[in-house]
Amino acid sequence: MNPNHINPDNNVTVAASVATGLEKVAANEIQEKFPYMDKSDVIVKQGRVYWKTNRSSLALAHKLRSIDRMFLIVKTCENYIYKETKEESYADLVQLAREINWSDIVKFWGYNKQYCKGKSRQENLYKKYPKSQAKGNSYCNGDKLDDSPREPAKDDILASSDTEPQEPKKPRTSQNGTPIVPNIAPDGTLVRYRVTTNRVGKKQPVTSPEASYRFGGEIQDITDWQVDLSNYNLEIMLCLGESSLEVAVALTLQSLHRRNITHFGATTLRATTAYCMLRMCNIQTGELVVDPMCGSGAIPVEGALEWPNSYHIGGDNTSSATERCSCNLQFINENPDFVDGHHEKDKRMNLRADTIQWDVTCLPLKTNSIDVVVSDLPFGKRVGSKVDNRKLYPALLKELARVTICDSGRACLLTQDKRTIKRSIDGLHFLWKLKKTQYINIGGLTAGVFLLQRTKNNFEDMPS
Ligand SMILES: C[S@@+](CC[C@H](N)C(=O)[O-])C[C@H]1O[C@@H](n2cnc3c(N)ncnc32)[C@H](O)[C@@H]1O
Repeated sequence: MNPNHINPDNNVTVAASVATGLEKVAANEIQEKFPYMDKSDVIVKQGRVYWKTNRSSLALAHKLRSIDRMFLIVKTCENYIYKETKEESYADLVQLAREINWSDIVKFWGYNKQYCKGKSRQENLYKKYPKSQAKGNSYCNGDKLDDSPREPAKDDILASSDTEPQEPKKPRTSQNGTPIVPNIAPDGTLVRYRVTTNRVGKKQPVTSPEASYRFGGEIQDITDWQVDLSNYNLEIMLCLGESSLEVAVALTLQSLHRRNITHFGATTLRATTAYCMLRMCNIQTGELVVDPMCGSGAIPVEGALEWPNSYHIGGDNTSSATERCSCNLQFINENPDFVDGHHEKDKRMNLRADTIQWDVTCLPLKTNSIDVVVSDLPFGKRVGSKVDNRKLYPALLKELARVTICDSGRACLLTQDKRTIKRSIDGLHFLWKLKKTQYINIGGLTAGVFLLQRTKNNFEDMPS
């Protein structure tokens, strides 16, 4: 294995994790937002998208909406052959750690830090926006911000018995005289790191904890960095594939799917999935976009932020859901600096979105009046039941066909109850054409995203 040199000023390879099934939507966003990029510059693998970037494009990369986490790829070994014994494999991991130029990596990581919204952002939220925490506050009764801190992964045994902040260590040299990578990044930050190992399959002779321990231990010997499992600011990812090996450094401290929502419900959709569904509908300026079963409003919130030249409506049949959705919209309007990057600090925002309580099977909307419907339907697990879905899905598809505009109207519906939705779409082929079915992974469950196009047929002409 030859060492990979990361030149922080030139092109580096970056990878992003994406919900399985939505990789192509993410690749499409990357191609659109990095105009200099060729199609072939973006590589799609299961649950991941890779592309080349450089230091000056980092700000842009952090504005991508479809990706969950982003990593700097430090080393990739395709067709990697694992040694047979543990001892030989440990020796390989030690060698691998020695071959990497950690000084260059920490330099790139230093550039990236300014764009990196970490745990502290969510943790500081209560301090900064105390109204959002209190029950019975001016925004919403009941629910509060989801600030659950990230737990260290189980497989991480690179435990330092002392995780208290330590004084910076004095510069050292290694036994063979090579300079030790200092524990202060170029911008003066103390490096506190952890290694997280993911093992795919069981072919490898070492377990994830053993790999973290050996690889992370060697990094500790050749750098002056502090190990800190819970308050780390640099996360090194070691991926032991079945016949490949990858070392990466996290460029985001937490998943970007947590953005923009302050009042969570039991089934709040990830912002990244909401974005991908909206994107699949190719929303145009001036279009009216409706989520008729909006829950906490992840879809209208994301829609209003990312497609500000359209109007977004979120409806639900429960008052607690519509209240949560309005709280989420109102919170952003009043605290625009909560939203990543785009908006001027201290200037009230005015999201083009509204919330209303209604029943999806009987909407207070004119026939032929809505351009786009994007919705995450009750799966029948946490909300509703599969038996209820057999009545609900055909009824909602019929009502949505009535209100959407003939020929140009689109709908993007997400559900895990794939059999019921397919049957319901088949039963309404006079009004809806199924353009695409995309299976995606939602928290370990396989759900389907169904992209529908309204047919030319008038609702009134539907044969009974
Ligand atoms: C899967 S959840 C939607 C979650 C939402 N995407 C979010 O981010 O919170 C489905 C929603 O459908 C709503 N619902 C169920 N039956 C309904 C009906 N007949 N009319 C309108 N909304 C309904 C439920 O109250 C629930 O909030």
